[in-house]
Amino acid sequence: MMKNSSTFKAFRVEEENGNYITGIKEMPFEPLNNGEVLIRIEYSSLNYKDALSTIGNKGVTKNYPHTPGIDAAGIVKSSQSEHFKAGDSVIVTSYELGMNHPGGFAEYIKVPDSWVVPMPKNMSSRKAMMFGTAGFTAALSIYRLLSNGQKPELGPIVVTGALGGVGNIACQILNKLGFEVIAANYELAPEPEIKKIGAQSQIDRSISDDLSGHPILKPIWAGAIDVVGGNTLTTMIKGCKPLGNVTTCGNIGSGDLEMTVYPFILRGVSLLGIDSQNCPMEIRQKVWDLLADSWSIKFDQEFVKETKLESLSMHINLMLEKKSKGRIIVKL
Ligand SMILES: NC(=O)c1ccc[n+]([C@@H]2O[C@H](COP(=O)([O-])OP(=O)(O)OC[C@H]3O[C@@H](n4cnc5c(N)ncnc54)[C@H](OP(=O)(O)O)[C@@H]3O)[C@@H](O)[C@H]2O)c1
Repeated sequence: MMKNSSTFKAFRVEEENGNYITGIKEMPFEPLNNGEVLIRIEYSSLNYKDALSTIGNKGVTKNYPHTPGIDAAGIVKSSQSEHFKAGDSVIVTSYELGMNHPGGFAEYIKVPDSWVVPMPKNMSSRKAMMFGTAGFTAALSIYRLLSNGQKPELGPIVVTGALGGVGNIACQILNKLGFEVIAANYELAPEPEIKKIGAQSQIDRSISDDLSGHPILKPIWAGAIDVVGGNTLTTMIKGCKPLGNVTTCGNIGSGDLEMTVYPFILRGVSLLGIDSQNCPMEIRQKVWDLLADSWSIKFDQEFVKETKLESLSMHINLMLEKKSKGRIIVKL
């Protein structure tokens, strides 16, 4: 493929007779409109939504050909915005990036300035993408817990899917903030893995996925961060201590929620919804600043793998086959 200064490399998905074919293509630069910035991407990261976008999931991406990549971090190359100038270091995640707008699996993106977060001090593009949408969602969940009165002295927090992208980072930040953390995975994990993510203990599915049918359970935890949904989320709410908070961000298990109102009206438990995609910019910026500063964590080398556009297909396939663990960052 000829490299040309008027084009840039992108990982493209094309639709051919109902099949979705991926490959690296040269894309032309398009003129910037008022309020837009052109960003040279240094790092992106791979999320499940990106994998879905490569197989034609219309809930994620409606039109093809398309460039996936819901996360990107890099340097402003040129700007038609009064808020950003060439040379600024920035992060873009959420909104329509990588879903219905060309995304981060490319050397450049062109986006509205309202999507762009200035890179916090002490944060590199690489570190920002180790967090990516998964880390941002974990941090936003904790931000919501704290804003609603959660304190370490009220008791432990259960994190479901604790070895996954959101859960692992949530456990580490909570531990750093002085919370006792209880991990809940689909299967019990080896003790060293639980300790490594900063959890003090773990519970098995007979506790985190209660099948007794009772409308309210003995209160054991003071709050929960749930990524599973369904009966696991219901259990987190039913077993929560008075005035505790439970966040919900995922539906790995199920999107259903069948329960009574009793935990809410007899214990004052709060259920907090987490939507990283439409999080207001003011909170988005605060959360990224926290991740760069007092909520910063050290990433385990085994948890983060680095790849390039050329090897992305392999990682996407592993993710679709549910054989992928940890975070995959993409170096451009
Ligand atoms: N609302 C938002 O803004 C937002 C943003 C980001 C992500 N999300 C959602 O959050 C969820 C988690 O994302 P992720 O990136 O952390 O996914 P992930 O990396 O795939 O991790 C999911 C974890 O959950 C575990 N798990 C599966 N079923 C379970 C069960 N029944 N009980 C306990 N653990 C279970 C998995 O274990 P195994 O590997 O052993 O199966 C895995 O460790 C997804 O649904 C994602 O779509 C939402």
